This record gives sequence, structure tokens and C-alpha cells, in this order.
Amino acid sequence: MINQAKWITSPIDSEQAVYTFEKSFFTDKKIVCATLYASAMGVYVPYINGKRIGNNVLTPGYTSYSSRIQYQTYDVTDMLEKENRISIGLGLGWAVGEFGFWRIKNFFADHTSLVAMLSVKYEDGSEETVVTDETWQVYTSRVTFAEIYHGETVDMTASIELVGNAVLSNGIKGKLVEQDGEWITEHERLAPIEVIRTPNGELVLDFGQNMAGYVEIRIKAKRGSKIVLHHAEVLDKEGNFYTENYRSARNECTYVCSGGNDVFKPEYSFQGFRYVQLVEYPFDEVDLNGFRAIAVHSNMKRTGYFRCGNEKINQLYHNIIWGQKSNYLDLPTDCPQRNERLGWTGDTQVFCRTGAINYDTEKFLRKWMRDVAAEQTPEGAVKGIVPNAVRKNHPKNPGDTRISAAWGDVACVVPWELYLAYGNKEMLEEQFPVMQKWVDYMHGVGPEEFLWLAGMHYGDWLAMDAGEDSYVGATSNDLIASAFFAYSTSLLIKAGEVLGKDMSEYKKLYANVRKAFREYFMENGMPKEEFPYTEVLYLDEPPIDTTRKGVTQTALTLILHFDLCDDNERPALADKLVELIRENDMRMTTGFVGTPYLLHALSENGYTDIAYELLYQERNPSWLYSVTHGGTTMWEHWDSLKEDGSFWDKSMNSFNHYAYGAVYDWIFGVACGIKTVAEAPAYKVVDIAPHPDKRLGYAQASIDSRNGKIEIYWYYKEDKVYYEITIPENVTARLTLPSGYNETLSGGVYHFAE
Ligand code: BGC
Repeated sequence: MINQAKWITSPIDSEQAVYTFEKSFFTDKKIVCATLYASAMGVYVPYINGKRIGNNVLTPGYTSYSSRIQYQTYDVTDMLEKENRISIGLGLGWAVGEFGFWRIKNFFADHTSLVAMLSVKYEDGSEETVVTDETWQVYTSRVTFAEIYHGETVDMTASIELVGNAVLSNGIKGKLVEQDGEWITEHERLAPIEVIRTPNGELVLDFGQNMAGYVEIRIKAKRGSKIVLHHAEVLDKEGNFYTENYRSARNECTYVCSGGNDVFKPEYSFQGFRYVQLVEYPFDEVDLNGFRAIAVHSNMKRTGYFRCGNEKINQLYHNIIWGQKSNYLDLPTDCPQRNERLGWTGDTQVFCRTGAINYDTEKFLRKWMRDVAAEQTPEGAVKGIVPNAVRKNHPKNPGDTRISAAWGDVACVVPWELYLAYGNKEMLEEQFPVMQKWVDYMHGVGPEEFLWLAGMHYGDWLAMDAGEDSYVGATSNDLIASAFFAYSTSLLIKAGEVLGKDMSEYKKLYANVRKAFREYFMENGMPKEEFPYTEVLYLDEPPIDTTRKGVTQTALTLILHFDLCDDNERPALADKLVELIRENDMRMTTGFVGTPYLLHALSENGYTDIAYELLYQERNPSWLYSVTHGGTTMWEHWDSLKEDGSFWDKSMNSFNHYAYGAVYDWIFGVACGIKTVAEAPAYKVVDIAPHPDKRLGYAQASIDSRNGKIEIYWYYKEDKVYYEITIPENVTARLTLPSGYNETLSGGVYHFAE
């Protein structure tokens, strides 16, 4: 439909400014319905007759623009009058301007473009359309600056000028596709909890919660008076405003008042923040009522809830939820604040199971997986970032275009996890080729057919076992890559079997990969101590020959959890894992790769008590370290804020990185004991096997699954544990209590005690 419209742009360079595209039209007959279709290379904000259309923001969202650009559809029937003026603001958004961490400009296009069509159906059966073309007029706007990373300037005193008629915009490669993700909308509105005067004299508002979104200001001040806001996630050791970890992202909003009642908020950018500094403000006293922080994220249905008797764990859960809200903003990102906010595949892979418990993420992730599919290379490679907003290798850093194990494996992990959570075979069928190509890629890469050796990986990213301030952990990258080769192949086989495909070739491949893994990496049922490793630190410098370890918490976790060992080897491997945890003073050393599976590996091998010890641990590294140090979201590093009050290096230190929040799938699946099963996904058949622990006091978890709401509540009373379990109609629950008692339950509310 929208294809009848033409892509148009401003006749003058639109760099960093927002222009408004306008068109007047008459409707003189009775209208049955009117629909607006719109999209942009950039971000657009649509109005008819001065009224905002729709309640979604940051449209058209972020996709692999060179392949697909979403368009949105709005019912505007009730907004039309006889004389109408449609007016659409157009800013740079993700597509144009500075985006990606090498400060690349105009990655997807060198100017903004708009496409829109209004279709009106009249009662007499006739139809009329208004489409973007060279008759639309282009005006300057009061938004005089806007960039995703840098913020926005709105000047209510700026004059609006006609710059001329729109011109046609050529060369847009991406296909227009109907919006297939969730709407991006505004959610919580938080009032400031405190006004702070920092030791440096800065005037700062604390909203009490780190988030993605923006601040809305309602104000009446003298015409021309100015408000300048800076954003920050944390205050430093001395209590001063700290923005260095934003790197080049300015996150600055400037507003110039009209003299009347003004309402300001960004429309073409968003910020990641908890604190706001009033760099300029027209009054001596701050009117706190005039400020609200608005959380912005994709409008997914919330499905999971949790509470327990330990307030620190409750805060951890709160931080996990807010980490997800902040980073599920149209696509799954690493963080929402610095000059990154990119679709890092590894982070998504790690968190997706937890994400699908908390919210219904099928539509959200399926949209992004279409971008993964669009960007997968003909050989099947999946890069670290999708959409890939990093053009070429930077001579100093090979990282940006790496094809890395545990990152690329998102190709297999996400479709499989979505299938488990929602049971949608059609989605799995759509994603199957992506999964298959990724496995084929690993099969064909490197010198050994059944191992993935000598790749360039992110490794056990941010693990703690390679020394202070190291980005990559000590575990052998080859071991991680080959373990994931086996794991992804196993997921592909499962998916193929669900879809009734002949998987015999991949079963042979799996057997060969597993065998090769065991031969190369293991000896007498244990991983070998060390492996040679060629490290490429900088592309313009010679590689360094070094070694990486085989006996680490992460290596043992992967071997156990991915079933790369024989059953009789499990006890010794699990004992070794526990020994390493004890040697590290009851703390983990794992990074992005090992952490999501660590507690599972322990529980699956009889060490749930040790898993709980790790969960309760408060010293660094631990989940509760950030909680006891004031975190309101998950941190990028276990110790983003170090024990001495200093920060991790400003070059990479986010306080809103959800990856380690993946621990919730253990809390939900093991401690509370609710797990969907592959034979009957979407919780149609559910395993209920709680593992209560006295120190938690009680736990209450629920999931509003596609088959109804499943709830568990367990609590301690005088050394006995009481259970209340709610199973919806048409769901079968396979209950196993810690004593070994088991029973099959159907719809109803059940009570047990033991
Ligand atoms: C991102 C990560 C990502 C990593 C890759 C970082 O800059 O923020 O979360 O996975 O790079 O190593």
C-alpha cells in the first residue's frame, strides 16, 4: 500500500536538525475510515491538524535499514476534519548522523527521508489517497538539534520557516515492511526523589532509578530563558556528577522557553540515566513537580513476577527487570546510554531465556531475528552486532567485526528459547535456515572440521580470572567456541525434530563434534590444563602467541551443562568446579559465557547448596555486590564501581547492562522450580521441582504463560516447607518435591508440606 508513496527529503541539508513535512487536503464527504501509513530513514513524529498521531515513539524503530525498514499504520478516522493539514517531523534517528562506537557518521544514509500515505475511504464507496511527493512543503522546526547519542535542542522562540518543496529521495535500498516488532511506548513516570547540590556545586536531580527514556519538563518561564540538562547514571566517589562512561555520547537536552506554559521532552532521541544535572535553569528554586523521568521501551506484555523473603534478592530481581526494560527498546541492546546502544548478539543470547520469563518477547525478538537473518553472510556467519552499524575493521581494534562464538550462537539459542517459551512452530520454521546456516558456518570454519579453532572471539567476556582490568577471561577461546559448536548443533537437531525434518546428518555431525571436543580438550574426564592461543590484539600489530586455560569455572560449567562429558565423569568435574569456587573464597570468576549456566551446572550435579551460596554472596564478584553498592539495574562489570569507590575504566563501564541478569532463569527454573519442557512447550507441560532454601524464607513466582498462569509459593515454618502450587486448566504439571515425592497435577490449586 505505502509503496504508492514516494520517498522525499528536504531540499536543504538536514544535518542534525529536524524538518517538518506538511501537506494540506480537504475531505468533503462522510468518512468511513482513514489510515495513515508512514516510515522514515531517520525518526519521524506524525501530526494531523496539530494533534499527535498514535502514542508510540521513536518510529519507525531500528532495523537493518539496508534490507528492511518498518512502516507503521495508524487509524486516523476520528482526527480528520474538512480542512486538514498533515505534518510530520523528521529527525536523524539511528539511520543518519553519528551512530556506532567508532563515531561513524551516516552509516545507513547520508540524509533523512520520509515516506507516508494517507488513505481515506468515504461512505459513498470512493477512496482518496494523499501520498508524499514533491508537493509537500518542508519547514524548519523548533527542534533545532537531535541525535540519538547526543540529545536534543528545542527552541520555542525559533521562527518556523518554509525551506521549499520536498525533493525526491533516491537510493533507499531497504524494503518497506509492515511493523513487525512491538510499539515503542512510554511507561513509568518517576518523580525526582531528591535534589542534590554536589561538592562541585552542581545542581542534580535524582530519580532513584537507572533507566532508558527521557525527562519531561513542565515549566512557565520568561521567553528565551534556557534549561540545559545533562544526564548521568552514577555520582562519583565524592558525590559529583559523573558522565565520563558515556564516552562521546553527550546526552544533552537544551530547551528555550516560549514565555507561556511549556512542556519539553525529547522526541527524536533518548537517554540512559538516573541523575540529571540542571546545567542551566531559570529559577533559584527547583520545582520538582515540573520534572518526570519517563521510561521508554518496547511495549511487551509483562508475564513474570517474583518475590522472596530476602530483600537483597528482591532488589536484584528489580534490577534485572529494569535492565530488561532499559535494553529492550525496539531491539535488544547492550546498554542504553553510551555511544553504543547496539544489538550485541552475545548479550541477547545470554539473557533471552530470562527475558522470555519476565515478558512476552516473541514478537520483539522475532523482529530482531529477521535482521539477524538479513545480515547473515552467505557462508552463515553472524556478526557481533545486528544491525551491523560498524563499517570496517578499525586498525586498532579487531573487535567490531568479529564473528565470535557465544555471540553468533544467538542464531540457534534465541529461536530455540522462543520455541520453548511460546511453542510457535511457525516461528521456528522461519528461523530454522538461520540456525542451520550458522551450524554449517562453524562446520566449515578453521583448520579442523569438527572443532572451531583459531577464531577471533570475545571469549569469556569480562570474566574475573585473567587478572585485574582484563576484558577477556582466562578460559580457552577454542574450548568455548567448540563447546558452543556442539551446543548449537544440538539445538538445531532439536528444532529440526520438532519440525519433522531428517536430522541424521546433523546427528552425525554432533557426535563428531562432541568426540573431537573430548579428544582435543579433555584427558581422563577433565579438561586439559592449557591450550596454545594466538591473540590478535591489534590488527596492525603482529599476533601474540600465548596460552589459555582449560580448567576454569567457565570451562567446567560448559562441559557439564552442554553435556560434553560422560555421566561417570560428572561427579569429578562438578567437584572440581566447586573446588575452584571454594578456592576463590566462595565466589565465581565467570564472565558473559560461563555466568548464565554456572548455577545450572551446579544444581544439575547435586550442588544446589553451592549455587545458593553464590547467589547470596555479596563480595565482588557476585550478583549482590552491585545490589549492596546501590545498583538499580544490572552492571556491565561485576565491579563497575570498585571496592575503593573508584570506577572501572571509562572506556567501557555501563551501569545498565542486562547480561548478568540471566541468573533469574535459575531462580525461576530451579529455586522456584518452574520449567517448560521441550516435548510440550509454552508450559503446556511444566516441570515443577522447587529447591527451597531456608535463607530465602519464602519464594513466590508466577508466569502468565500462553497456557495460563502458573504460580508457586513456598515458605518455611518451623523447619517445614509448605508449598502452594497453582496450575491452570489444560496444563499438566510434573511435580517433584525435594524429598523425591512426585505426582502429576492437572488444573487446580495444590498444597503440600514436607
Ligand atoms: C558491549 C558488550 C558486548 C561486547 C563484545 C561491548 O562493548 O557493550 O556488551 O557484548 O562489547 O565484546
